[in-house]
Amino acid sequence: MTGRLPMILDVDTGIDDSLAILYACASPEIELLAVTCVAGNVPAGRVADSTRSLLELAGRGDVPVALGAERPLVKPLETTEETHGPRGIGHAELPAPTRALAEQDAADLIIDAARRCPGAVQLVTLGPMTNLALALRREPRLPSLLRGWTFMGGAFRVPGNTTPTSEWNVYVDPDAAQVCLAAWASALTVDSAVPLPLGMGLDVTERARILPVDVTRLARRAGAADADADALTDAATRMHPRGTVRANPLLEFIVHALRFYFEFHARYDGFYGAFIHDPFVVAGAIDRVLVEVRPLFVDVEVGSGLAHGMTIADWRGITGHAPNVAVAVEGDAAAFLDRLIDRIGGLAGGR
Ligand code: RIB
Ligand code: CA
Repeated sequence: MTGRLPMILDVDTGIDDSLAILYACASPEIELLAVTCVAGNVPAGRVADSTRSLLELAGRGDVPVALGAERPLVKPLETTEETHGPRGIGHAELPAPTRALAEQDAADLIIDAARRCPGAVQLVTLGPMTNLALALRREPRLPSLLRGWTFMGGAFRVPGNTTPTSEWNVYVDPDAAQVCLAAWASALTVDSAVPLPLGMGLDVTERARILPVDVTRLARRAGAADADADALTDAATRMHPRGTVRANPLLEFIVHALRFYFEFHARYDGFYGAFIHDPFVVAGAIDRVLVEVRPLFVDVEVGSGLAHGMTIADWRGITGHAPNVAVAVEGDAAAFLDRLIDRIGGLAGGR
């Protein structure tokens, strides 16, 4: 071990998943062991292609990428190309990946990594929790074998973003979310040393907003000429890379990807910018100081009706069930955004 935190990201790339992958690549605290792919924002095959291509673009083609679940446990797959673009990377384009997929599927890769180094690996899920649910079915000891689990998912005291009550990752596969939360609840009754999963829902991730002015900051951090960086904010050239921004492949990718995301948020959330859910969760997994949590019992509604896919937290302890999630109730989005700009900007600038 290198003294760094061994981490596996499970993604449904996804524009914000892309930023999460880059944030992980740019974070010296972690050793990125692998990235596993799940169907969600776009079909799993596209997730796997974009994820491999992005890692290669970032100079991390060495990181194994495994293909996982092509559909949720029970529901038919729903995707959202409207939010993330047909390939999950907005207006950006990436060359086809050169590296092959890992031979193992996502669930087996997670299980083998946890068995190889018990108590060492931090799993961060940033999409529907289907792969983790499948892994738990094959290896029920995972909550004790992993160092911990951090997830982007749920809406605990705020409205959903997919239905009035449900957040996308949980909505796509509520059955998987229920399996995962129940597995940790069960493990905690047997072994109180199992860490509570950190659950970062929309309550905190929707405080992490990136705007064109932040992209200008990131471009400057990457070494782009001031005029080219400032052009990203100017109304006439907003979020269109030119000059030294366009000449930097990673910067160009980020700008084209985010422009699609900004256009989506302008239509549906009323601001030209984006919630960057997933990299905030990676940042929280690395540094818990960024979040304030409440240990709560959480379950998921898998039935029909308006509460379908709702994450229900027992704030008053009425059920009598022991907490199974450390639910993030506060998050330092400003500090996170500064770190994202510094780290991904530094990665793009090669320093
Ligand atoms: O609800 C936000 C989550 O759904 C993020 O992980 C985003 O990438 C989508 O997967
Ligand atoms: Ca995601």
